[in-house]
Amino acid sequence: MAVTFPAAGNLGDGGFMVIHLDKENRDLALDYRETAPAAATKDMFLDGQGNPDPNKSRDSGLAVGVPGTVAGLVLAEEKYGSGKFSLSDLIAPAIKLARDGFPVENEFPKYMPFFRDRFARWPSSAAIFLDANTQMLKDGDRLVQPDLADTLQAIAEDGPRAFYQGRSAELIAASVGKAGGIMTKDDLANYRVIERPIVRGIYRGYDIISMPPPSSGGVALIEMLNMLEGYDLSKLGRGEQSMHYMIEAMKRVYADRAAYMGDPDSVKMPIADLLSKKYAASLDAGIRDRATPAAEVRPGYPADHEGQNTTQFSVADRDGNAVSNTYTLNYWYGLGLVADGTGVLLNNELDDFTAKPGTPNTFGLIGYDSNLPGPNKRPLSSMTPTIVLKDGKPFLITGSPGGSRIITAVLQVIVNAIDFHMSVAEAVSAPRLHNQWEPDEVLAEPGFDPAVLAALKTRGHNIVPSDPHTSANSIEVTPNGYVGVADPRMRNGLAVGN
Ligand code: DON
Repeated sequence: MAVTFPAAGNLGDGGFMVIHLDKENRDLALDYRETAPAAATKDMFLDGQGNPDPNKSRDSGLAVGVPGTVAGLVLAEEKYGSGKFSLSDLIAPAIKLARDGFPVENEFPKYMPFFRDRFARWPSSAAIFLDANTQMLKDGDRLVQPDLADTLQAIAEDGPRAFYQGRSAELIAASVGKAGGIMTKDDLANYRVIERPIVRGIYRGYDIISMPPPSSGGVALIEMLNMLEGYDLSKLGRGEQSMHYMIEAMKRVYADRAAYMGDPDSVKMPIADLLSKKYAASLDAGIRDRATPAAEVRPGYPADHEGQNTTQFSVADRDGNAVSNTYTLNYWYGLGLVADGTGVLLNNELDDFTAKPGTPNTFGLIGYDSNLPGPNKRPLSSMTPTIVLKDGKPFLITGSPGGSRIITAVLQVIVNAIDFHMSVAEAVSAPRLHNQWEPDEVLAEPGFDPAVLAALKTRGHNIVPSDPHTSANSIEVTPNGYVGVADPRMRNGLAVGN
C-alpha cells in the first residue's frame, strides 16, 4: 500500500495495530503513532497574535511528525508474525511495483485541484505525482517511484535502521527543514514503537478489544457502547429512537474526549472511570427525549483533573489470529511533501494536536491542555482498530479512516452487527450518522429513511446531509467461514481470502 495507495498508508506516516494471538489467548496493541520532534513547543502552531495558524500545523514542515510505520510494521512482523517469510520476501512485491510502476486509477476526482496545488509546491513531489503539464496523473497514467523502490530495498536489506538512520534520515530531516520544520535526524534515530495494553470493554457479552491512548478511539468506542447497553436497541430496531440514543451518546463521549485525552506518557487520564459501566449509566441519566444542545453538554467525569484543561486493514488467519490496523498520513497524501531522494511522502499528523485550548483542528475536533503539542509527544488520534471477540474468539475485525468520524463509524458497524443482527456486508454498507459534540450537528450520509431524519429533526437534532468519509474494511468470522467486506464508500478496497 505504501506504493499503490500513496494517499494514505505510507512509509512517512504512523498508526496503530491491535492484534489477537489466538494460541496464547493474548491481545495487544502497537502504538507506532508519529511523535513531535524534541524541539516541539506548546505554542508551535500559533501566529504572532497567539491564534492557531493552520498553515503551520497543516501545510508546513512543522506539521510533520516523526514517522512510525516502518518501525511499527517491522516490529509486528518480527515479534508477532508467523515467521514464514523474511522481511525481504514481504517487501519484494512492493519494490517491484515501485520500480516498474503501475497504471493509476483516479480515486478522488473532485479533490484533484487541491492535491495538485499541494504537490506543485515541491519539485520532489511534483516529479512523482504530477505529469509533464504539472497536472495530477490521470486514469491509466503510470506511477513510477524509483526512489521509493530504493528506500524499500534498503529497508528489506537492513531493517528499520535503513530508514531511521544514515542517508534516509538525513534526507528526510533536510526536506522537513527546508519546508520550515524542526525535525532532526536524532528525532528519527530516537523513534520507538510502544507496546501498550489494549483497552477492553464488554458489550452484551462480546469482548471489545481496541486501541488505548494516544488514540481516543478505543476508550470513546467503549464509553459509547457502555451507554448504549442501557437501551434495548435490538427491540427498538434501527429507527429513530435508536438513532437518537446513539447521537446523544456520541455527543457526550466526544466532549469527554476533548477534555481529558492526550498522550498517556504526558497526561494523566481517568481511563478506568471513563470505561466504567457506572459512569456510562450516569451519562445515560442525562439523555432526554429531545436532543441536548451541545452547549449544555459538558465533559462529564467529575475528576481531580487539572482544570479545563488513514487506511484500515483487517486480517484473520486460519489459526484464529486477527489483526486490525489503521494508519494515516492525516490528510490524503499528508503534507504532500516527498522527502527529496527517498520517495517517501511525509505526514501532516501534528495538526491532530490542539494548537490552542478550545480551538478545533482540521476535523473540527476541539481539544484542551491534555492535547497541546510538546517535545516527543504523540498527538491524540481517533483511529480505532478494533477486534470484537465472542467466547474469546474473533467475531468481528473492524476499523476505519475518516478523521473524527472514525469512532462513530466503528460504533455503528458493531451495533449493526450485534444489535441489529446485520451481516458484516450490511453492517458496513448501511448509512452512518455522526455527531462529535462540537459543531452541534448530526452528519447524515445519503440513504437514511427521510421519515427517520424528519423525526430526529423534530427532537431538535440539527441534521446535516454529508458525503461519506469513512471506509470500514472489516471481517466477520461466521460458522461457515470468514466473510470479508471492502467498504463500498471508497474505490479500490478489496476483500480476499486464500
Ligand atoms: O489520527 C487521526 O485521528 C487522524 N489523523 C486520522 C486522519 C484520517 O483518518 C484521514 N482520513 N480520511
